[in-house]
Amino acid sequence: MAEPRISSIDGKLAKEFAVPSHVEEEKEKMAAFATHHVAAGRRVVLITSGGTKVPLESRTVRFLDNFSSGRRGASSAEYFIDAGYAVIFLHRHRSLYPYAHTFSTINMLDALQFRSGEAASGHSGEVVVDQKVLPNVVKMLKRYQEVKESQLILPVEFNTLSEYLHLLKAAAQALSTIGSKAMFYLAAAVSDFYIPASEMPEHKIQSSNGPLQLSLNMVPKILSPLVKDWAPQAFVISFKLETDPAILLEKARRALDTYRHQVVVANILDSRRGYVVVVTPSSQAELILTEEDVQNGVDIEERIVSNLTSAHNNFISPDGS
Ligand code: PMT
Repeated sequence: MAEPRISSIDGKLAKEFAVPSHVEEEKEKMAAFATHHVAAGRRVVLITSGGTKVPLESRTVRFLDNFSSGRRGASSAEYFIDAGYAVIFLHRHRSLYPYAHTFSTINMLDALQFRSGEAASGHSGEVVVDQKVLPNVVKMLKRYQEVKESQLILPVEFNTLSEYLHLLKAAAQALSTIGSKAMFYLAAAVSDFYIPASEMPEHKIQSSNGPLQLSLNMVPKILSPLVKDWAPQAFVISFKLETDPAILLEKARRALDTYRHQVVVANILDSRRGYVVVVTPSSQAELILTEEDVQNGVDIEERIVSNLTSAHNNFISPDGS
């Protein structure tokens, strides 16, 4: 039997990025989740979501971060579940979460009222929710509870870049057993730069030493071993974010040529909530929300997920069988 391929990125991961202590446990949970749902006739999507934190000191006081809120991943998870998928939600700790994300800008205490009860009855009172402050809260809560009870979502958290990289590798290996029924939807905004543990100061960097100059190494492009080695039969979607529209599509096409995966969803920072381009080796589809869509509360993620679930069908059964 052929030995499994060991990519050079595997060696780099093991050497330069601390392995989280719970990675094997999470891998077993993800493998069991995937096997269970595929046996029940579902497909499984692994969604990555949120930004990554890159520490500057090993006893971390400071770190580099990025803008990603995790809304794309959280909202997409809901549409994938509606489309019949089971979701492994690999997200940054405290980034936006499915069903809760619509309330992220609201101070919960403004939505709650306390009504005191009868002291004589031993009932001290109750907390009631103002549904004008939290519109749709009942609908969202019911759906969240249904999804949780049916175990259609498996949340897995990361915080640092190292945790993200090792957990994504574990997820890819866990899903390799379900072949083309696995989809990878890599919406996380992952840092391209980091400081290797061997070059990181242990203690807080002292401002008394004067201006700080940082030298950062390149983070290995994990898409490469994911597609080639860890989950070679899966349907893989990466995202491409730029701020300059002039280079967006060329960068998306270059990613497809380099990594040989199935789809790149290209977006621009300022317009990402209303416009994306779904790029494949043979096609390019613009998905746009109109003013009317926005007024009707349509999310761009609904369109993205609809496009990708059809493409996944074709990937699994190209002859339509
Ligand atoms: O979270 P929101 O605020 O809703 O914003 C959503 C988003 C803009 C973050 C999302 O739509 C998006 O575009 N995510 C990808 C951001 C990006 O620019 O990725 P990239 O070009 O650095 O990386 C390309 C792809 O490889 C991405 O799918 C990334 O998840 C993946 N990657 C990147 C680096 C790395 N070391 N490993 C990776 O797997």
